Amino acid sequence: MNIIVCKNYEEMSLRAAELLAEVVKSKPACVLGLATGSTPVGMYQNLIRMNKAGEISFKDVTTVNLDEYYPIDPENDQSYRYFMNVNLFDHVDIDKAKTSVPDGTAKDPEAEGRRYEALISALGGIDVQILGIGRNGHIGFNEPDASLVLDTHVTDLTPSTIEANSRFFASEKDVPRQALTMGIGSIFKAKKIILMVSGAEKKAAVSALLARRISTASPATMLNLHPDVTLVCTTDVVD
Ligand code: GLP
Repeated sequence: MNIIVCKNYEEMSLRAAELLAEVVKSKPACVLGLATGSTPVGMYQNLIRMNKAGEISFKDVTTVNLDEYYPIDPENDQSYRYFMNVNLFDHVDIDKAKTSVPDGTAKDPEAEGRRYEALISALGGIDVQILGIGRNGHIGFNEPDASLVLDTHVTDLTPSTIEANSRFFASEKDVPRQALTMGIGSIFKAKKIILMVSGAEKKAAVSALLARRISTASPATMLNLHPDVTLVCTTDVVD
């Protein structure tokens, strides 16, 4: 695993944007796996700036997002579709028809998982996948469990994730109890993974990742098995 330790959130955001921009420049019709949460917001701001400055273009880029709450309407300002529009897609030259987020309104979430997995395969996999990490080591919404699901699927959120994510909702009871998420196998279809981590509350999850053991009790530790992972983090996560 490559590790880039940055002095603060701004530097982490810039470094991650530069890594992503390299992929877009070398392969303009690339497939980007994108993530939500507070961590990648600054990276998206850098990508918007680079796009406006004419340094990169998203014209031929296809995107697939990691996850989405279930059920949720795309117009809901807490949906990950809404997040992507507001934080990136509305501000760059991307063709929104080439952007995908799991459908939080699907009648049959299991069928939606299968559709999404087939879409990732049909795209030929993902060139670079951005990941954040949950305090409990979750990636996407792959929560700690006795076993982990390989493909895109519907999953129950753990009480700790509901509590952590309630800061974005009016109250904890408004947080959806389920989500659609790429599985560990879907994430591993990415040729390259950039894991972004900032904030001391993620320290335990990152220590588990760097302890050179893998465990389904901390799903991010699985990333040790992937051949091309770059951890871009702030100093407070590793000191
Ligand atoms: C959510 C998302 C994850 C994200 C995590 C961390 O639960 N499903 O993909 O990585 O939260 O979010 P934050 O970056 O806000 O700490």
